[in-house]
Amino acid sequence: METVTVGLGERAYDILIGNSTLPDLGTRCKALGLGTRVAIVTNPTVGAHYLAPTRNALADAGFDVSVCELPDGERYKNTDSINTIYDHLVDRRLDRGSFLVALGGGVIGDMTGFAAATFLRGIPFVQVPTTVVAQVDSSVGGKTGVNHPRGKNLIGAFHQPRLVLMDLDMLGTLPHRELLAGIAEVVKYGVIEDADFFDFLNANAKPLLALEPGVTARVVRRCCELKAQVVADDERETSGRRAILNYGHTVGHAIEAVTGYKEYLHGEAVGLGMVAAARIAHRLGRLAEAESEAQRALLERFGLPTEIPQHLDRAAIADAMGLDKKVASGKIRLILADRIGHVEMVPFSADEVRTLVKDL
Ligand code: NAD
Ligand code: GLY
Repeated sequence: METVTVGLGERAYDILIGNSTLPDLGTRCKALGLGTRVAIVTNPTVGAHYLAPTRNALADAGFDVSVCELPDGERYKNTDSINTIYDHLVDRRLDRGSFLVALGGGVIGDMTGFAAATFLRGIPFVQVPTTVVAQVDSSVGGKTGVNHPRGKNLIGAFHQPRLVLMDLDMLGTLPHRELLAGIAEVVKYGVIEDADFFDFLNANAKPLLALEPGVTARVVRRCCELKAQVVADDERETSGRRAILNYGHTVGHAIEAVTGYKEYLHGEAVGLGMVAAARIAHRLGRLAEAESEAQRALLERFGLPTEIPQHLDRAAIADAMGLDKKVASGKIRLILADRIGHVEMVPFSADEVRTLVKDL
């Protein structure tokens, strides 16, 4: 098992990465001095595979365990589900000495973290991420929350977990399309911070797609190291540093919005957004065409879509980009690469964005 530490002073925590790590969950929680009562939050899909071993790992270490099951899906990432968690915690009389365990992908992780941030003004929680997206991104960094009917992740809080335990074996049961979508976020790290990692992905696409254990562990660990550093530098996204993690997301979120969140998984839309960002960077003379094409080709090798379909209205995409959380003082701020391994945040007016998006 390997450990990456998120260096946040008194809120620092470890990310444990390895195969067959789940049985260690209880002893690791015990070692952190977490209280005696714990509620596992999960959904039926993940629970069918991993609830029993998670419960056993915690019970064997002496914890009093209960389970709160939420329906599966992004459409349930809302305040109703948070109320379901609160009801469970009140019914079971969990107190400030208790903690939550998020067992699932990013949807379960974000909601469990938000419930932990707000119940009794804050109790500890532990992340057990089960998707690629959750293992390389959402379980690390303390962004928690739910969607509002008019926008994604509009309600939330920063609340860091006390521990993130990743069992890479869990990725073996992921639907193939979910696996590929998560890999778009993996490619993102290479483009924003680490050209060597980008080359490693190019050289190891096949073993990664086959979830070969050595390659998978190296990939997840490198993503966690990069994310941990960015989060330690700019925990609350105040300096602009953390915003680089949103590479590909401004166009990606807009594509998700104009397709009603039905056509693309989030990672697929982010992949399209990365291709768009690279083309825009090239058009502006910031990025060489060969580097833009190298990024597109790598996404394609991972079986991801790389062309925004012509029937998607470019003006609607540009309008939706105006709702991005990075918009400041009326400017839409795009993360653009100047080479593989380095990006910058660049402001544009709404008119400029319309012109840039028109020809994508
Ligand atoms: P998800 O949580 O919906 O999981 C995808 C699907 O896979 C679900 O149906 C789930 O039940 C199933 N699943 C999960 N693990 C499985 C496993 N091991 N085997 C079989 N099936 C499994 O989606 P996701 O892609 O993990 O997360 C997306 C969410 O994460 C979005 O809501 C997004 O906003 C959020 N997110 C948050 C951050 C952050 O920093 N907090 C970062 C990125 C994404
Ligand atoms: N996933 C973006 C962030 O954690 O900042």
